[in-house]
Amino acid sequence: MCSAGAPRAATYLGFLGHVDWTLVLVAQSTAVMNKEHEYVLGQSARAARRLEIQDAHFADVSERLLDDLALRPNDRVVELGCGPGGFTQRIFRRLGAGGVVVGVDTSESLQSQARRVLEGKGPARFEPVLADIAQLGTWLSGADVVVGRAVLHHVPMVEFMLGRLRAALRPGTRVGFLEPDFRAPLARLAYLEATGRPGLKPLAAWATAINRLYLARGLSPAVGATLALALEGAGYRDVRSAWEECRSDRAMVENMLLFYDEVRDRLTSLGIMTAEEIARQQGLLRAAHAESLPPAWATFRAACEA
Ligand SMILES: C[S@@+](CC[C@H](N)C(=O)[O-])C[C@H]1O[C@@H](n2cnc3c(N)ncnc32)[C@H](O)[C@@H]1O
Repeated sequence: MCSAGAPRAATYLGFLGHVDWTLVLVAQSTAVMNKEHEYVLGQSARAARRLEIQDAHFADVSERLLDDLALRPNDRVVELGCGPGGFTQRIFRRLGAGGVVVGVDTSESLQSQARRVLEGKGPARFEPVLADIAQLGTWLSGADVVVGRAVLHHVPMVEFMLGRLRAALRPGTRVGFLEPDFRAPLARLAYLEATGRPGLKPLAAWATAINRLYLARGLSPAVGATLALALEGAGYRDVRSAWEECRSDRAMVENMLLFYDEVRDRLTSLGIMTAEEIARQQGLLRAAHAESLPPAWATFRAACEA
């Protein structure tokens, strides 16, 4: 996106003589944000169901991230992109009566599902904030911990936010992210296919669809791969990172089927897939023996201190 966009911006701004590329890139990302602020995936109850499946899939690695962050009962935890509250529930379990989760999200409907899900789930308090995490706000004040699961790749040029985040936080604030990896496992998939393993085409088709959808919306589906480097570059301390593949099972296949249902119109209007092709791929996924499929995605996780 940047390399394609920069020459166009240079032509447009050429009369100014000196071009500040940082400003150009920020302006581009802001333009994407304003124009396409809408979350690229769905916000319905069905989307919440897909995120519930994803939560089960990410259960162990999510708990490991929370272990890395050493949550304390009275922590004030700011959760970026809390969505319907799957990860929030895990944070809640580790907090006591003095603990607070500030759940920041742009989706009112997903956030209200979080509010319902968290009712009676523990002594901690949930404070929902409807805001775009790219624009840091007063909701960060007093944070002991800042955390986000599967949200960074939804923010264009999110590295700018990560740098500004460190500047805004008290030194010592614990920070951690979990991001999906929709790319690295594809190399093994292709190798297996090329050496005669049948039945992998629906995984490759799904991975192609989600990557192309993100790229079409100016989002990097691989932001997790450079996350630890970006955090170190911004001066975060004690950056610990890990990469883990997720097993393939029925839940993963259901997640993929729901993804197609959620974004069918977007995939077709962007010319990524036809409705007929989506239906065909869904049929192939339903017929697949999920447990014998290789991993189709993985996770990056990083924990550090501001
Ligand atoms: C894949 S979902 C993950 C939800 C939740 N963190 C979880 O793991 O279940 C991404 C969430 O990020 C939110 N989101 C996307 N872009 C955002 C932005 N710029 N500011 C705040 N929230 C955002 C979406 O509304 C959605 O709830």
